[in-house]
Amino acid sequence: MSDRVGVLFVCLGNICRSPLAEGVFRQLVSEATLLDRFEIDSAGTTSYHAGSPPDGRTVTVARRRGLVLEHAARQITEEDVRAYDYVVVMDASNRAKVTRLVERASGTAEVRMLREFDPEAHDELDVPDPYFGGDDGFEDVHDMVERSCRALLNHIREEHGF
Ligand code: 4NP
Repeated sequence: MSDRVGVLFVCLGNICRSPLAEGVFRQLVSEATLLDRFEIDSAGTTSYHAGSPPDGRTVTVARRRGLVLEHAARQITEEDVRAYDYVVVMDASNRAKVTRLVERASGTAEVRMLREFDPEAHDELDVPDPYFGGDDGFEDVHDMVERSCRALLNHIREEHGF
């Protein structure tokens, strides 16, 4: 990955929020014709859903907005926090777990909250977990993930000068 910028999106189960962020971010990178500059993936802090495709409700909202999500859930590893440049987490609980993993694995990844980049986040930095809620939650999550990923890409482009 050395000459590419590695961006790993992380949530709890890796079936709702982080595979969506991965797909949205990849689409934006593709539109900017920068795919060869990036390594993009997603993972969960748990292995609860390892091997599963994204949640059907996430897939439906994404498809309605023209985005096809393809991912098999997996748990984040020690190797990930040494290999990726940015680990972008969805909420404070994810951040606490990933920060401990970085310490344990002597990781070099920069851990950031996705909504640090959301221009409409105000003081709420969590992407709320939509798993146990209604369909509206999935629409809201999609909106905030899209806004945040646009700004995240701009931030990385500025930091890396491309
Ligand atoms: P995610 O959502 O972390 O955005 O993928 C969840 C998926 C599964 C569970 C919780 C949150 N679960 O408890 O199984």
